Amino acid sequence: MSDIAKLQVGDNSYEFPLIKGTENEVAIDIKNLRDVTNGIITIDPGYKNSGSCESAITFLDGEKGVLRYRGYPIEELAEKADFLEVSYALIFGNLPTQEELDKFHTDIRSHAIVDDDVRKIIEAFPRNAHPMGVLSSLTSALTAFNPSSVNVDSKEEMYASIVRIMAKFPVLVAWTMRKKKGMHLNYGRNTLGYIENLMYMMFKKPNEDFEVNPIIKNALHKLLILHADHEQNCSTSTVRIVGSSHAGLFASLSAGISALWGPLHGGANQAVLEMLEAIQADGGDTAKYMAKAKDKNDPFRLMGFGHRVYKNFDPRAKIIKATADEVLNDLGVDDPILNIARALEKEALSDPYFVERKLYPNVDFYSGIIYRAMGIPVEMFTVMFALGRLPGWIAQWKEMRLNKEPIGRPRQIYIGETQRPFVEIEKR
Ligand code: SDX
Repeated sequence: MSDIAKLQVGDNSYEFPLIKGTENEVAIDIKNLRDVTNGIITIDPGYKNSGSCESAITFLDGEKGVLRYRGYPIEELAEKADFLEVSYALIFGNLPTQEELDKFHTDIRSHAIVDDDVRKIIEAFPRNAHPMGVLSSLTSALTAFNPSSVNVDSKEEMYASIVRIMAKFPVLVAWTMRKKKGMHLNYGRNTLGYIENLMYMMFKKPNEDFEVNPIIKNALHKLLILHADHEQNCSTSTVRIVGSSHAGLFASLSAGISALWGPLHGGANQAVLEMLEAIQADGGDTAKYMAKAKDKNDPFRLMGFGHRVYKNFDPRAKIIKATADEVLNDLGVDDPILNIARALEKEALSDPYFVERKLYPNVDFYSGIIYRAMGIPVEMFTVMFALGRLPGWIAQWKEMRLNKEPIGRPRQIYIGETQRPFVEIEKR
């Protein structure tokens, strides 16, 4: 294949260079399109065909169902690594040595206290506030307690802001859940591992000793690893574009949390559970809901199905489905919701509507069933997604800033009124 693309517009023809990635993906570099064509731009609602950046963090192949973080296959990471190792690899480029990992964890532990005034902010929220709104607000509020914006050209300052948010975010997640449950806001133990400490902060009851349940611990590692990054999805693109204005890391992450909240994105894991519960309440009539999902006049969608990029099984969904079976079996939980999910999947995978549109279960379809078995409230499911995605957001933000990418500012095609004179109100 030649290394240029040709564009013919009327009598004029233009040539643009092709960019090829390490996995042989090809892009047409249109950086100077508007200049050389005297104003012509492209338009691509939802950016289905447009790349925003060149990135070295995550590779996915939607047709083949391949997902790798920094070249490491997701299947191996989910099976063999822990969440902090994977976070380190995403943020710094390679899986850490034991010494690097120990230092990362020690530095995180040294920042694991949140200013006590944050308690006053969280206590001001109504108990029924959605946890994603609380978490987004608290993350942005961290800027107030850590006002110095990150000088990304200083490796020390960049590192300090990374370990700070890696330390404080789990506290905010745990406090958000405990607020919802009406439990006192506590701290973890610096003697515990990263996930064990999170579990302690989330589940510790004031009148009981805390035992780490290994089944839940292992499942949390796996779930958070599987959610850790996913190239230029909606919330990651949000973190990158907000950061491109040189807004701080915490402010950019807060924006990403808000984008993830949407039910078409990370909010789908909550929507899936609510959908499954509605089907259960409706007598388990999965055929009725399949028909609704296919009915163009019905806004209902089969939540947890379909994906912008995966036109094959989402590799994460495969692992999460297997994990759901293991966890519920090990915990002795017999949840009829899981059987409804399996029935829906079976019907959808043989239904022409879904097959033609290549709609398969995605990362959100089974994850909530596991969170529910762990005793995590349904409104906290997307918060768990955000916790998993934190290292990916940090890595993407850091890459964008260190690459000194320009501020994100898309163009448009104007289709409104052409020029017209002002008319006094009495004459309108
Ligand atoms: C995540 O991008 C990422 O990487 C995201 C994510 C990550 O890790 O960051 O993977 C996490 O967000 C996973 C997706 C979670 N969302 C859901 O489960 C919500 C339900 N799914 C859909 O709303 C939808 O599939 C999207 C939003 C995920 C993708 O939408 P697209 O790519 O814009 O596709 P589309 O809406 O144009 O749909 C194409 C066709 C349409 O039918 P036709 O007009 O061609 O007849 O498929 C239909 C849609 O109506 N369709 C569905 C459907 N999803 C798509 N029909 C019924 N149920 C569905 N779930």
